[in-house]
This record gives sequence, C-alpha cells and structure tokens, in this order.
Amino acid sequence: MHRTHTCGQLTLSQLNQQVTLSGWVQKSRDLGGTTFIDMRDRYGITQLVINSDDDETLRTKSRELGREFVIKVVGQVVERSNKNPKISTGDIEIRVSNLEILNPAKLPPFMIEDETDGGEELRMKYRYLDLRRNPVRNNLILRHKMAQEIRKYLDAQDFLEVETPVLIKSTPEGARDFVVPSRMNAGEFYALPQSPQTFKQLLMVSGFDRYFQIVKCFRDEDLRADRQPEFTQIDCEMAFIEQEDILNLFEGLTRHMFKTIKGLEFNDFPRMLYADAMRLYGSDKPDIRFGMEFVELKNNTLPKNQQPQTWKSENEFPVFANAQMVVGINAKACAHYTRKQLDELTDFVKRQQIGATGLIYMRHNDDGSIKSSVDKFYTELELKNWAIAFNSQPGDLLLIMAGQKDKVRKQLNELRLEMGNRLALRDKNKFAPLWVIDFPLLEWDEESERYHAMHHPFTSPKPEDIDMLDTNPGEVRANAYDLVINGTEIGGGSIRIHDKTLQSLMFKHLGFTPDEAQKQFGFLLEAFEYGAPPHGGIAFGFDRLVSIFAGLDSIRDVIAFPKNNSGRDVMIDSPSTIDEKQMKELSIKTVL
Ligand code: AMO
Repeated sequence: MHRTHTCGQLTLSQLNQQVTLSGWVQKSRDLGGTTFIDMRDRYGITQLVINSDDDETLRTKSRELGREFVIKVVGQVVERSNKNPKISTGDIEIRVSNLEILNPAKLPPFMIEDETDGGEELRMKYRYLDLRRNPVRNNLILRHKMAQEIRKYLDAQDFLEVETPVLIKSTPEGARDFVVPSRMNAGEFYALPQSPQTFKQLLMVSGFDRYFQIVKCFRDEDLRADRQPEFTQIDCEMAFIEQEDILNLFEGLTRHMFKTIKGLEFNDFPRMLYADAMRLYGSDKPDIRFGMEFVELKNNTLPKNQQPQTWKSENEFPVFANAQMVVGINAKACAHYTRKQLDELTDFVKRQQIGATGLIYMRHNDDGSIKSSVDKFYTELELKNWAIAFNSQPGDLLLIMAGQKDKVRKQLNELRLEMGNRLALRDKNKFAPLWVIDFPLLEWDEESERYHAMHHPFTSPKPEDIDMLDTNPGEVRANAYDLVINGTEIGGGSIRIHDKTLQSLMFKHLGFTPDEAQKQFGFLLEAFEYGAPPHGGIAFGFDRLVSIFAGLDSIRDVIAFPKNNSGRDVMIDSPSTIDEKQMKELSIKTVL
C-alpha cells in the first residue's frame, strides 16, 4: 500500500495513529541531529521528523534525500510543539519509523515554491515541474471546478453535450486555419476548426434544440496575453429562441459561475449598445469597473443639429479646428499632476502602438482657476465651458485628444485604461459584467477594400436594417452580442440566418461569387432547405473566463500545457520538421 492518507489530510483527530504517506520532498533540513522533511502531494504538505536517537539506517537514508525525491513513509501522527497555522496539517507531524525512496530526482532547474526563481521560458520547458507549484495547480483546479459548474448549469437547462469533428474544412471566423494534410487524399487538406460554428447550426437543423460543448478551437493568429493558437470555448446553440432568450440564459450561466465559484452576486448586469460603447469608451469591450466616460467637444460626423456645442474662439487651436473629433476624459482629482507626469502621458499616447499626435490637458485647480496647454488659443470663458461639459470640479484634470473619429476614440480608450491602472481603478477582485449588443453586421477592411462580416457570415442582420444592405452597408446592425467582463471580451454570439435566400444575399455582400459560396458552404445552404429552425447561439472563451476568475492577466497560466508567444511548445519542441518518408506519404514537397 502506498498511502493511507494524503499529505493534506492529517490533523489532531488522527493523533497516535500509524499512517503511510507518499509524496515528494519539498525540503529537508537537519537541525542538530533531528531531520525535518516537508513532504508534498497535490493535497498539501506534511512535516516528517526523524530524531537523532532513531535507527541509524533510517537516519542515513534521510540524509540521502534531495529535493523532489519521491518517497514513502510509515510513521505515527504526533502533536507538533511548534504549530504552523498556515497549513491544514500544521498541528501535527509524523514520527517516521520507515522511509523508502521510491524514486530519486535530479535537482529541479528552479525552486518548486509559490514564489519561484525560474524564468518564464525555463518554467515552460519544464512545465510538468511548474505544475507542481501551488499557484499553477490551483489554477487548474479552479478550471476543473468551473467546467463542472458549467456542465451542471447547462445540463439543468436541457442542453446536450455533442462532440463535433476536429478534422474539418475551413470555417470563416476571420483568422487563418491550421491545416492537416490528408494521406489518403493526396494534395488535400483538412482544416482544424476555428470553432464548431457550422456544425452546431447543422445540429439545430437536426432538431437537437439546445447544444453545448466545451471544445478545443484552433486559430493561426498573432498571439497575445489573451490569445492562444489552441484554446477552449464553451460553445452553445439554441433553436426557437430570440436574442433576449440567449442573453437571459447566458446571463444566468455567468451569475451561476460567480455565485458558485466566487460567492458573488450581482444586482446589475447592464446592457450597452455597441454605438454607445464606442461613443462613451471608444471600445467594444469597455471596462466599466470605473467611469471616466468620454466627453466630445466636437464631432463633425453628426448632423449639424446634433453636434456638441463647441466653444470656438477666433483663433482656435489649429489641431482642434482641423480635427473631425475632439474628445476627452476627466481624470478626477488629478489636477496636481506634474509636468513630468503629463509628459509621460503624452509619450504614452504617442507610442507607435497607439499613434496619437499629442495630448492636451486642462488643469482645474483647487482654487477654481483653470490652466491648460492651449491657453493662448482660448479665452477663460471658453475653458470654463469645457469644464462644464466635462462636469469637472476643482482638483480635476481634463485630458483631451483630437483626430479622425475612429482613430481618436481608440487612442483615448488606451489612455482611459492607462489612467484606470494608474489610479488603481481596475481592481482584480471587482467584477463588472456587461452585454454589448447591436453590433454592426459588417466592418470595412482597409486592406482588401471591402466589407467583412464583423462576427461571422451566418449572423443575421436586424430585419429592420436589411434594406440598408445595398445603400448603406456599414450602418446595418446585427442581432449580435458580446459578453464583456472587466474590459475583456469573454464571449460572443448572434442570431443566425436560417433562410437560404438571405444567407446567399449575405455571401454576395461579403464578396463571394455564387460559385464560391456553393463550394465553401453548399452543405449549409442545402441544409437550410430541409427545415432549418430559427436559431442562435454564443461561445464563451473558457480560458479567458477562468483567468478572470483567477485574477490573472494571461490565459497561459490556466492552460496545463500552453504555447509561448511564437506559438511553440518548448517542452515537446513543437512545431518540428517531419522526416522525408512522412512528407512523401503526405504528398508534400519540401519548400524552403
Ligand atoms: P468568437 O470568434 O467571438 O465567436 O469566439 C468566442 C470567444 O472565444 C474566445 N477566443 C479566444 N480565446 C483564446 N484564444 C484565442 N485565440 C481566442 N479567440 C477567441 C473569446 C471569444 O469571445 N462561433 C462564434 C461564436 C458564436 O457565434 O456562437 C465564435 O467563435 O473569448
């Protein structure tokens, strides 16, 4: 028998019992003849003691132990004189009577401690050792618990878990596909799914009605903290529903998760129109843990009678005069910012990744006086009017930017988030979920100079906007929605098109010829002719959801074996070349 108990289990209630434990040596220290060993397993740490008057063979063996040796001990549970309230087994220790080394270990390349000395790359190479550390293991335990709760909730709501294939044909989710050559069909390739989108829609045609799957998806895109080439979705689809039903059901799932996992309940679960999110936060995924909403001083894109009242003096600041939009934020109680701090913010927005040309400030001093970086262009009254527009109080600092509408909003969004960080307004223990709804159906792509589906080509336009598809495609809204938590896009979905004619029309607007549409999606168009019910769905990014719950910035640490930023698994050294024979079998010629 390897163990009677785990290393996290024993307390004073087992006092004097003889027990057998197995695990790893966390550390071993010799204090004047008495050896203390911390023995670890998944459940915790138990202290072992070998005294100076113990059997000589036992003492010799204990001196052979190194970090991470796998051992088995038999011993008696005794009360500790020096208790450790920090761990569950801190009241006891084991007086060892027998010690067996099950497997010696090489010295690990970094400390297996909560705070380790190992750098990222090293820990990735030895990920199996990194996974022995509490913080990493706890993330995976959290992930497991969350998966169980998701299944529990969706099962109770009559969802059926159905597996869809991994070797498929390209799905158009906007990223590049990973492809797999087919040996039996020379020169042909499968694609790995970017999501099970078309399959879940086909399941609705099959009458499954409520489907879900916790499923791996693959996207060959540039990686960031919240993106991995293979990631997991909580993928769902429902038939005979409307947008409202989906929002309610998945708001329910989100509430269930927060309640069961974190013990948190929300009064508010707000919804915001996409257009308002862009106007007030310059982002389709606003972090609403804090306010600091945008205030427009100028917006030339609006009809004249809806434009903000501008306070334009004769010699207006030329940058503002020439801009399509002048927009800013009120950083409350920041009027004391020094020249240096303001320069830092200016440098921040001028960085290449953000690309602004400059930043204007207006200090609303404690004594009510106003000082701005554009004083020479505006009268005091005009600046006072700015203060009114921003609802600024003495002590506040206005940060204002100007430029083309979409660009300047994006830039100010970055500045708002930066200010949120600097002012500690983005507390990891605070959660602010939000539905963003009524996304545009199409988005203009500068590079290809045509419209692309903002979500995917199966998303239904709002019926009342369909007429605009020909005249004003950029203004057509979709029945599409995103779930955002703390400024991260957690999930997205839509009501789908279930009508062949409308789906063909969409393909046409997306620049597919009828032939191309038939070749890529003929199977779906045909399925729509065999009784497709109205349907819609959503997919949550599971890794992102877990990382938000764990309070982490990157999804890597909630994935057991993640890839690095170049898409490599440095532990198994993948991707890698394959040998000539394999290449030949797959009918692949070497190209360098
Ligand atoms: P979408 O493309 O919005 O929708 O993806 C859904 C969610 O998946 C997560 N996600 C990612 N997570 C980690 N790494 C990635 N590379 C990555 N890409 C996406 C995000 C995102 O919100 N088929 C549709 C869903 C539907 O319409 O039902 C889809 O895949 O959290």
